[in-house]
Amino acid sequence: MKSVRLRRAVPADAALLHAWDAEPHVIKAVTDDPTAEEAFIDADWEQEISDQSPVSFFLIGEENGRPVGSMQVIDPHLEPTHYWGEIEPNLRALDIWLGPADALGRGIGTAMMTQAIDACFAAPEVTAIVIDPLSSNPDAHRFYQRLGFRPVERRLFGPDDCLVHRLERAHWEARS
Ligand SMILES: CC(C)(COP(=O)(O)OP(=O)(O)OC[C@H]1O[C@@H](n2cnc3c(N)ncnc32)[C@H](O)[C@@H]1OP(=O)(O)O)[C@@H](O)C(=O)NCCC(=O)NCCS
Repeated sequence: MKSVRLRRAVPADAALLHAWDAEPHVIKAVTDDPTAEEAFIDADWEQEISDQSPVSFFLIGEENGRPVGSMQVIDPHLEPTHYWGEIEPNLRALDIWLGPADALGRGIGTAMMTQAIDACFAAPEVTAIVIDPLSSNPDAHRFYQRLGFRPVERRLFGPDDCLVHRLERAHWEARS
């Protein structure tokens, strides 16, 4: 198995995240706007990284030491932007995107998610993990569902039409 390691994002990663915003597969995963030329258009990565806290932080996935992907981990009940609106406590919400196109489809995302999910459930109070892929991203739905996530609700987040998925702790623990 390839060596995939997750580490916390640091200020020097901002340039990488900016560069990945221009990757067509990242843009497609983030917006249904066919004219978009950049993903996470409002993101100031320097600021996002310096604003990290225990309720919202970024992870960088490295394959044999090369940064290849990013994740955001939030506590959706507590994080200050209240992106998820009214939502129960003791959840985590994840987002994941690989940067270089040559990293796609080689098991790196599965390895990153597996480590991140284990880390989320290491906190005993966490009952489930939620994610919000665009409804138009069936490849991602298949990816999440293979990990045990189940679709629970189609929902608009601003202009984004998303298919919310949820992974229950019991389901994850029964998996192995
Ligand atoms: C989704 C993603 C993290 C999966 O990681 P990965 O390393 O490519 O996936 P793995 O090799 O572990 O697993 C393969 C599965 O990933 C999914 N996948 C592969 N390429 C993908 C792509 N460009 N976009 C979305 N999902 C993809 C498919 O479900 C694939 O399964 P399949 O063989 O049945 O087609 C990665 O493909 C990615 O970053 N895609 C673009 C951004 C994205 O869609 N993020 C999710 C938004 S919520």
